[in-house]
Amino acid sequence: MFSRIRSAAMPCAVLAMMFLVWPFVRHALDLGVAGLRDGDATGSRLYVPGADVPNIAIFVHMASGAVLTLLVGLQLWEGIRRHRMRLHRLNGYVMFTCAMLTGAGGLAYIALQGTIGGLWMDVGFALYGLLMIGVAVQTVRRAQQHRIVAHRRWALRLFVLAMGSWLYRVHYGLWYALTGGVASNDAFTGAFDLVQNFAFYLPYLLLLELWFRWRPVQREMSVQTSL
Ligand code: HEM
Repeated sequence: MFSRIRSAAMPCAVLAMMFLVWPFVRHALDLGVAGLRDGDATGSRLYVPGADVPNIAIFVHMASGAVLTLLVGLQLWEGIRRHRMRLHRLNGYVMFTCAMLTGAGGLAYIALQGTIGGLWMDVGFALYGLLMIGVAVQTVRRAQQHRIVAHRRWALRLFVLAMGSWLYRVHYGLWYALTGGVASNDAFTGAFDLVQNFAFYLPYLLLLELWFRWRPVQREMSVQTSL
């Protein structure tokens, strides 16, 4: 009975998550595709006339980031991991490619153009991009080495990072709803903006590390045997 509830809860949770992130995914996909197709005509403030490399980098970044945000939940679905290993693997490689394009595109844009918020936003987002690339590489490497406990841990780190961009918008939405935007401005240089440069991924990664330490490896091993 318990296992039936558990196996029904996971697909519901994954679908609910996809539903929640969908407006942001759609926004990012629309901006990315329109930027690549129409360039200047989109009126995006991120488009720089004549600067092909940063333009392509940032718009590819948005489109691939959208796909990554949408698909990442599927990897957590135990039923797919257990019974549809090919799908899990295919989705894993699609996510890996998207993580590379998203991270590299964002990093290229920072290096060539810089962010709207200046130095601290450059630093916060560059660290985010480097982590995304490094964590995606580790996730795939550990899977190829059949080190399943380690693979699972890296995959959870990648999940946290992939959700980070959505969380960034959620933090802003909540903050503006609660305070009207105290300590935040259009140049992204307010105290809240400065904290936000790191707060959409670092605290969540830290909580995950604490959970790894708290959760006995023995319990994880029993999960692994079923993979
Ligand atoms: C996880 C998936 C991600 C998605 C869906 C995503 C999506 C987006 C979108 C839609 C924008 C345009 C914002 C707007 O003007 O409305 C954007 C901007 C940007 N993103 Fe990402 N992003 C993701 C991950 C990352 C990563 C990993 C980096 C780190 C390198 C990054 C760096 C940037 C930068 C530097 C900008 C421009 C900031 C500015 O100057 O306004 N993003 N992203």
